Amino acid sequence: MIEKTIYDSPEYDVFKNGVKKLTGLDLNSYKNQIHRRVHMLMQRWNISSYDAYFKTIKEDDGKLREFLDYLTINVSEFFRNANKWNELRDVVIPDLIRTRGRKQLKIWSAGSATGEEPYSLAILSIEAKLSPQTPVLASDIDQGAIAIAKRGHYLKRQLVNVPRELVSRYFTTADGGETYLVNSEVKARVSFQRLNLIEDSFSDDFDLILCRNVVIYFSSETKTALYHKFLRALRPGGYLLVGSTEQIFDYRKIGFESAGAFLYQRP
Ligand SMILES: C[S@@+](CC[C@H](N)C(=O)[O-])C[C@H]1O[C@@H](n2cnc3c(N)ncnc32)[C@H](O)[C@@H]1O
Repeated sequence: MIEKTIYDSPEYDVFKNGVKKLTGLDLNSYKNQIHRRVHMLMQRWNISSYDAYFKTIKEDDGKLREFLDYLTINVSEFFRNANKWNELRDVVIPDLIRTRGRKQLKIWSAGSATGEEPYSLAILSIEAKLSPQTPVLASDIDQGAIAIAKRGHYLKRQLVNVPRELVSRYFTTADGGETYLVNSEVKARVSFQRLNLIEDSFSDDFDLILCRNVVIYFSSETKTALYHKFLRALRPGGYLLVGSTEQIFDYRKIGFESAGAFLYQRP
């Protein structure tokens, strides 16, 4: 029975190895909550062995999608937590323009999900007249989320935080006003890449990194290792913005300075 299976059983190890090969997702880097989620899905589908479950996600694209959606939770919004976006627009971007100029500011949405965050950054970049030569990098571990992001079609409710004048400037509507399409100028400002934040290496010339609502299931060691990687990925003076429940308590030990709530700067 699933309930009696402990998370460190040999069967679960085989399952975890298979998942890693299939999706790049290393379940060992996550908290126990992630294992409970695996079990919840197995119960939902009435599957009682890891072996059978692995076969299912390997053979059925829909089930694999549901598995990844449920474990990595792609939920996002344009300009999520509006006050942080005002801070980016009014404080962080002007500071970077002052110290670096407009030409080559390198911005990264790490864990970009279905694209709302990198497109919000692209809109901010256009509004701040940053050079189009350096697109916003959008990365995610989930290829399916990236495919949705590249399409750039959204429902009206995902745009609740977008000021009306920006909606009319950067979106067109379809389906009688139900679907909003990101316009080509915004799309051209974003480059998408599949990247596993835990395993892959990053380049070291970013000026602003957003990593919000991504590390929620990461173990504390995985989180700390990632924040060290982000520090090295930033140029001196560069900023890291994390999610509004993801305060980094030992930011000093890692090497950051505080630059505001949930905002850190490489000295
Ligand atoms: C809730 S979404 C966050 C979207 C956006 N940053 C926001 O705050 O609205 C979390 C995203 O993190 C991605 N993710 C989870 N683990 C990851 C990893 N190890 N490497 C890269 N992306 C990962 C998921 O695929 C998911 O799309």
